[in-house]
Amino acid sequence: MGKLSVNKKHIDTILVLDFGSQYTQLIARRIRESNVYSEILPWDIDEKKIQDLNPKGVVLSGGPNSVTDSHTPRIPQCIFELNIPILGICYGMQTLAEQMGGQVVSVDKKEFGHTSLDVENDSVLFKDINKTINVWMSHGDQVQDLPDEFDLIASTKTAPIAAMQHKNLPIYAIQFHPEVTHTQDGHVLLENFIFEICHAHTDWKMDDLISSRIKEIKEQVQDNKVLLGLSGGVDSSVTAALLHKAIGKKLVCVFVDNGLLRKGEAEQVMQTFKENMQLNVVKSDSQETFLRHLKEIEDPEQKRKIIGRTFIDVFDAEAMKLKDIRFLAQGTIYPDVIESSGSESKEARVIKSHHNVGGLPEDMKLDLVEPLRDLFKDEVRKIGIELGIPKEMIERHPFPGPGLGVRILGEVTKEKTKILQNADHIFIEELIRADLYNTVSQAFAVLLPVKSVGVVGDERRYAEVIALRAVETVDFMTARWAQLPYEFLEHVSNRIVNEIEAVSRVVYDISSKPPATIEWE
Ligand code: XMP
Repeated sequence: MGKLSVNKKHIDTILVLDFGSQYTQLIARRIRESNVYSEILPWDIDEKKIQDLNPKGVVLSGGPNSVTDSHTPRIPQCIFELNIPILGICYGMQTLAEQMGGQVVSVDKKEFGHTSLDVENDSVLFKDINKTINVWMSHGDQVQDLPDEFDLIASTKTAPIAAMQHKNLPIYAIQFHPEVTHTQDGHVLLENFIFEICHAHTDWKMDDLISSRIKEIKEQVQDNKVLLGLSGGVDSSVTAALLHKAIGKKLVCVFVDNGLLRKGEAEQVMQTFKENMQLNVVKSDSQETFLRHLKEIEDPEQKRKIIGRTFIDVFDAEAMKLKDIRFLAQGTIYPDVIESSGSESKEARVIKSHHNVGGLPEDMKLDLVEPLRDLFKDEVRKIGIELGIPKEMIERHPFPGPGLGVRILGEVTKEKTKILQNADHIFIEELIRADLYNTVSQAFAVLLPVKSVGVVGDERRYAEVIALRAVETVDFMTARWAQLPYEFLEHVSNRIVNEIEAVSRVVYDISSKPPATIEWE
């Protein structure tokens, strides 16, 4: 299958070499926010790939390992041979120090959180930054002896060598994390590196991106027809809008209503894309098919598989009715494809596979169009807004492919789906009204497989239990339960039990991930 290949040979690139930190993607996002293109490669990638990228500079990410153990990741020799600026962060600093002849030791107590940093020496890395700043630390090891060729730049109480730079070469290293917002002026430090040290150009701008993508899509698909599975999620919606702008009615979207969407979502998708934006959308009303296949199925994984398979069958059946399709578009985004040394992106890839259309018959011989393949979610959102997709669709919390199927614990029925849709709608509506929606990363209701006794007036009611879940997270791999105000929760709970007769009790989930996952199934 051919892919939309974006030629970036001509634009300045900062390579982020990944040592497995949870912040690796954040480093690349921050660089791109400064309008410089950045790409992530794992530390053990084939050297040729690094050379092909022809970077202007390299940032070495943090990572969970200790350089005091043998067989832990090291910077490949080719990085030094490129003769370009290097910035090591956390583990990146430690391995740099060790590889250049310094000494790294494990400290008794892992340092995690805010600390005050004193800049000791004039360094272009700290240009326009105060001499004392608050920084974010997260490490167990630290540099004890500077390598010979290095000068100290900054220190903290617990880490006397918290930043260092090479005497002659543009090689810098810091123990703290400039990519997280907790570090004061972290973005200034990163910009000092990319502009003052790497002299990178601002080639990465969102406004140019839409027009160049449209041009690339036109070149790739020519006069041919393109098929897209539209789910109503951000990625497929933006893919649809972009393709529509490029090729108009030659794009055919298939929207499968599986009956497991949020309340009013199917109508909203059709209203937005078909009525307002005039896209060519075929809707498949398949609620009954999904319910039939899910009948008496209680096991979560089995439900997931059935929903995934049914989706593919329905989508294929619709696609087979269409004539002369040559391309299949997918809303794949950068975090889905990053090859990482950590486990995160791999997990993300598995998650994405739930959305992907895997079963189209071979004889359809479709080539792939993936115009968002190198973009982060926030970049995709910006494009979506530019293309006129309503803000509330673009800023919506993520929603799992199997939808309410994994939020109705146990067997899925039409009645339960309706109860859950109504409860979820109340929760989300109130979050928006109280201006809390954007303070949490994901919020939803879950229908539990138990009944509970309640009293309404003089009557006892044996009815359903709704659990509310709201979490704060950066990467969805770890998450904290959101500490929503008690008054707010009380109000939501009152509305749910008053407005939905079938519910007698509402509980709030106060589990973080790990050990609990975000979804209940
Ligand atoms: P967990 O429950 O694994 O969820 O902590 C992490 C994130 O992934 C979403 N999720 C899924 N998304 N298909 C999807 O497309 C799935 O089967 C699935 N399971 C979980 C979940 O909503 C959260 O954002």
